[in-house]
Amino acid sequence: MSTTTTNTTLRPETLKGIAALTKRFPQPEGALLTSLRIAEREVGFINAHVCEQVAGAIGMPPAKVWGMVSFYTTFRKETDGKNVVWVCATLPCALRGAEGVYDYLSKKLGVNKDETTPDNLFTLKKAECLGSCGTAPCMQVNDDYYEGLTFEKIDEILADLKAGKSPARHVTQ
Ligand code: FES
Repeated sequence: MSTTTTNTTLRPETLKGIAALTKRFPQPEGALLTSLRIAEREVGFINAHVCEQVAGAIGMPPAKVWGMVSFYTTFRKETDGKNVVWVCATLPCALRGAEGVYDYLSKKLGVNKDETTPDNLFTLKKAECLGSCGTAPCMQVNDDYYEGLTFEKIDEILADLKAGKSPARHVTQ
């Protein structure tokens, strides 16, 4: 989603919604994570401009909002590609071949960790436990999980994503 022409101005109704949400919490910090996710959905990523607007709507210093964004690595960045691929690298997935999955994806996509393909279609990242250890090895692409991964399944998933299709979900039987 990284383009220099992306409009990062949040809609007035979004900012009003964030302000209303904030009033439901005793401290504005309580609304921050959800508000950032709302902003991320609208713009496609979080950058300094988005942070400033969220900070204004919540009534917090922008630096504090940016601190939250930089702490949680799962916010989409402006430089991320259309599909952000998170490969779980925590122990249960590692025991079931996550490193091989990561290496395979890295080779197939021609990128290393946190890099984006030249066509801007894929960004490859490593994740801590995705909460699906029973179906390891697994990865998350944007909002979807793909589990019980094999190289063949990865080929199918990437082909579907390249074709703009929603890949079939792959769950270990
Ligand atoms: Fe990979 Fe939990 S260790 S999902």
